[in-house]
Amino acid sequence: MKILVIGGSGLVGSNCLNHFAEQPGVEVMGTYFSFPTANTEYFDTLNINNPDNADIAAFNPDVIMHCGALTHVDKCETEVEESYDKTVRSTLNVIELCKVYNARMLYVSTDYVFDGREGPYDENASVNPLSIYGKHKLEAEQLVLKEVPGSVVIRITNVYGDEERNKNFVTRIAEVCVNGESLALKLPVDQYATPVNAADVAKALYLLARDGKSGIYNIASKDFFNRVELVEKILSFFPDHKITFESITTAELGQPAPRPLMGGLKTDKFMGEYPDFVFTTVDDYLKDFSMEAKI
Ligand SMILES: NC(=O)c1ccc[n+]([C@@H]2O[C@H](COP(=O)([O-])OP(=O)(O)OC[C@H]3O[C@@H](n4cnc5c(N)ncnc54)[C@H](OP(=O)(O)O)[C@@H]3O)[C@@H](O)[C@H]2O)c1
Repeated sequence: MKILVIGGSGLVGSNCLNHFAEQPGVEVMGTYFSFPTANTEYFDTLNINNPDNADIAAFNPDVIMHCGALTHVDKCETEVEESYDKTVRSTLNVIELCKVYNARMLYVSTDYVFDGREGPYDENASVNPLSIYGKHKLEAEQLVLKEVPGSVVIRITNVYGDEERNKNFVTRIAEVCVNGESLALKLPVDQYATPVNAADVAKALYLLARDGKSGIYNIASKDFFNRVELVEKILSFFPDHKITFESITTAELGQPAPRPLMGGLKTDKFMGEYPDFVFTTVDDYLKDFSMEAKI
């Protein structure tokens, strides 16, 4: 199986690229857009005929994973056209690639397709995105399922884990603690989600691709935290930290994009099909992170 990972320089994509490459009988090719990494080549989903793009024809993928999107939720709310381009139009272009190479698609979506009134959600729950980001992700996932039969859409939220830029929330806060930096945070106490390690996302996605699964799958750990609980957990691993935080409501925080407050995802469907799969937890990740920091 040949898997092309578009967005292989990012958090989810880099974990997938590394994990897929270790699987027997799998060949991988990964791409970056603005941040070259050791195992990625340039590719722009908004200009698929750019002569500088990696040679996908030569690779001839069986499966194309698309990780590119405008992931800055508040920016999406104000830069609607840019959000549409980077999330919906880019997906339409990747759909075209799937048709050219007769490839299945793996698309990465979010719990922001829900309104957050009654999470955590299962795959059959009614969607009702509140934000531009959520609306565009929903439009993109629906296009994938309609246009590329046999494709998989996974929904994830609050992803953390190893990545070159350490830009995800959990790792960033942990790094600030390790570096002994001071930081004052305002944290929404009413935003709940199910954080997941990108390494587990990669393992789950590989199984879904290997087994020719299709449709929507939630991928999440059993962790279910609001932001205050999540940061308290991180800080508990670094007793000498210099971080202070104020616990406030989302309304007080005044973020431009509305958030699904009671978000998060249930994984009964995935666990029903893969009962031996073990999702790691934020605790597991922080244990390793704090141990490595001491070495
Ligand atoms: N992280 C989360 O908590 C989370 C939660 C729910 C859903 N998701 C979804 O998961 C996917 C991956 O998220 P992530 O956290 O891994 O994001 P990320 O680290 O920002 O990675 C995004 C990737 O897309 C690439 N990219 C951006 N614009 C591109 C373009 N025009 N052409 C080709 N590639 C482009 C980036 O390349 P460069 O970095 O090289 O520019 C990067 O490799 C996104 O679709 C996101 O909506 C993420």
